[in-house]
Amino acid sequence: MGESTPHATRPVLPPAGLRAGPRDQHDDRVYVENGVALATSVAQLLQLHQGRFQSPAESLAGLNLLDWGCGSARLLTGLQQLGVDFARYTGVDVKAATIDWCQQHLAAERVTFHTVDIQNARYNPGGRPLNEVELAHIPSGHDLIVLRSVFTHMLLADMGAHLAVLRPLLAPGGQIYVSVFAEYGVPAESENPPGYRVEPSGPLHCVRVDRGGFEGLARQAGLQVSVFCQSILHQPTFLLEPIN
Ligand SMILES: C[S@@+](CC[C@H](N)C(=O)[O-])C[C@H]1O[C@@H](n2cnc3c(N)ncnc32)[C@H](O)[C@@H]1O
Repeated sequence: MGESTPHATRPVLPPAGLRAGPRDQHDDRVYVENGVALATSVAQLLQLHQGRFQSPAESLAGLNLLDWGCGSARLLTGLQQLGVDFARYTGVDVKAATIDWCQQHLAAERVTFHTVDIQNARYNPGGRPLNEVELAHIPSGHDLIVLRSVFTHMLLADMGAHLAVLRPLLAPGGQIYVSVFAEYGVPAESENPPGYRVEPSGPLHCVRVDRGGFEGLARQAGLQVSVFCQSILHQPTFLLEPIN
């Protein structure tokens, strides 16, 4: 990508084994289309908040973006395909092998990646608790932090701890885009609830939480809901903003 504006031709794609999600992601066309859909959804949620409707590339231009739980940076692929001239993209993940690939193949002047050795029973069982992990190297001042399909694999207490850590990384006016299996009228938290969305396979495949409980947790971290959409790419998704 170099120093120039990101552009849509010939994306550099990760090996199939590093791609998160269902096996259809192994198809390059599907992977790229899903990246574009994700980037578009981020732009659309921001537009709902701003009440200003533009192309995704216009909405996301000039933003400082943090993709927390970026995996193989599917979002970056989507941003590039849409020609988004972002100010900076930072990808963070617990999976060292994936971040090593991203750093080697996707990093550029305005694109960087970091591994954080945070424990997650599904993705990084040997990691350490969040409060013991050094995060001083993660840049701050982000206009938008994206957590897509990350809290869907995390217990409620860990979601709260992450929100408390991420809020100070926002620039003034910054927002957090986060997908959560949040529903009304369900128990406070259920890991792999039977009959809900997927046939569970392994720990933290699908964590469902009570929506009021999640919003309360966000408030404890100094965040409030600015936009909620019941289904974005099959996941309930919040835009959260700091409480003044
Ligand atoms: C289902 S994948 C989604 C990847 C990416 N957001 C996407 O939409 O393509 C979940 C990702 O979250 C990462 N993850 C899990 N716990 C994390 C944590 N505490 N901090 C950062 N990343 C985490 C996993 O390693 C995995 O790459």
